[in-house]
Amino acid sequence: MTVPSALNRRDFIGRTIKYAAAAAVAAPFVSRGKVLGANDRIGIGFIGVGGRGRGHVALAQNFIKAGQNLQIVAICDAWRYRLDEATKFAGAKGYMKHAELLADPSVDIVCIATPDRLHVPQALDAVRAGKDVYCEKPMGHWTQFTLSKQFCEETQKLKRVVQVGNQGNSSPAWQKVKELVQSGAIGRVQLVTAGFYRNGDWGERMPIADPEAKPGPDLDWEAFLGDAPKVPFTVQRFFSWRKYLDYAGGPCTDLLPHLFTPFASAIGLKFPSRAVASGGIFKYTTYDREVPDTFNMCLDYPEKLSVVVVSTLANDYVTEPAIHGDEGTLTLQNPGEWNVGIDSVTIVPRKGERQVFPMQKSDATVAHWQNFLKCVRSREKPVSDVEFGLHVQAALNMAMLSLLKDKVVKFDFAKEEIVA
Ligand SMILES: NC(=O)c1ccc[n+]([C@@H]2O[C@H](COP(=O)([O-])OP(=O)(O)OC[C@H]3O[C@@H](n4cnc5c(N)ncnc54)[C@H](O)[C@@H]3O)[C@@H](O)[C@H]2O)c1
Repeated sequence: MTVPSALNRRDFIGRTIKYAAAAAVAAPFVSRGKVLGANDRIGIGFIGVGGRGRGHVALAQNFIKAGQNLQIVAICDAWRYRLDEATKFAGAKGYMKHAELLADPSVDIVCIATPDRLHVPQALDAVRAGKDVYCEKPMGHWTQFTLSKQFCEETQKLKRVVQVGNQGNSSPAWQKVKELVQSGAIGRVQLVTAGFYRNGDWGERMPIADPEAKPGPDLDWEAFLGDAPKVPFTVQRFFSWRKYLDYAGGPCTDLLPHLFTPFASAIGLKFPSRAVASGGIFKYTTYDREVPDTFNMCLDYPEKLSVVVVSTLANDYVTEPAIHGDEGTLTLQNPGEWNVGIDSVTIVPRKGERQVFPMQKSDATVAHWQNFLKCVRSREKPVSDVEFGLHVQAALNMAMLSLLKDKVVKFDFAKEEIVA
């Protein structure tokens, strides 16, 4: 089955659409070939219902129970066992191929929670099919900057609403950070220092759900691979995909989005001018792991400021992130719990009294979905919109390439390209 393509890929290449100019202005919510009113029921489709995707399905069900006019109409997963489980749970139609779900006219918006490498290709298909998208982080795989840029351009041209799943951006604590930084509470930002720490090699989070699983009618290996190199099936690659560079990037693209993204939003960062990274497989050397377990990145921005983020999967001791301005420093207390928020935000001025702002904990994913659904109806830009997603993606991709190629990676602002 083919997905209706609103814009021919070849037509598109070569056009220079400036993001700001193409950014969606308030436009009606058009779906199923008609303009949906503010109170019409929204049909949701879920693509990828593993750990994260199932959480999103449950969250949507809670919204429905609370009276929101939504319906879970369809679910797609490349492994039939998970598909059947989720369709039964949600009382929805099931598809093995995302193109079939996108061709379903009862689907207005989609949530994509597949392995990283599939996000941008599936999201691009979705906006071309006229759907709005909640796309899990990272927006794209570390090899997919050009495709991510194309996704950004087409989303804006087609006036679709896209929320990238960096839920921290919707948490009240990070919004407070943004308000303080933007109001000049610490002066001009010079430096960000932050770290993301965990203990565990990901094996504990990515068990082999079925050691006997095999490609065939119940497991679509080709769909899992997407545009990745065609390699023979193994259960490790299919279920523990986070360990492999073809499908993931390790802490840089999996964990740093949680911390780096809200910093980028608070400060208003766009494309970095250069990236340098260090790290490697320093602890978990006992199996076919390809992604680093320790990853550190230094980014310079043309606004003359640096961002330094370190990470390890070998020790979960948390250090306080800080934004250093020329008139003071902003620190965050207990940032380990990125999904439920942080305990407090503190301003330490160079002169004068420190100020502590206690924060209330709340589920940032719920707030992030609420923001997305509001924007689907109003056609406003969500807090983690596609253009911002591209800026974050550029930084993460540059840092990954720096480590893998062992060099300083720069950004060409005229061409909007990574030079690696
Ligand atoms: N925002 C957050 O806090 C957060 C938390 C966890 C995961 N995530 C993101 O969510 C994504 C999924 O992570 P996960 O832990 O749920 O992984 P997972 O392996 O548990 O789930 C992925 C699912 O996608 C399915 N799949 C694979 N190829 C497919 C295809 N072509 N079409 C449809 N389905 C396909 C798999 O069968 C599996 O059920 C990742 O990109 C991850 O970064 C985000």
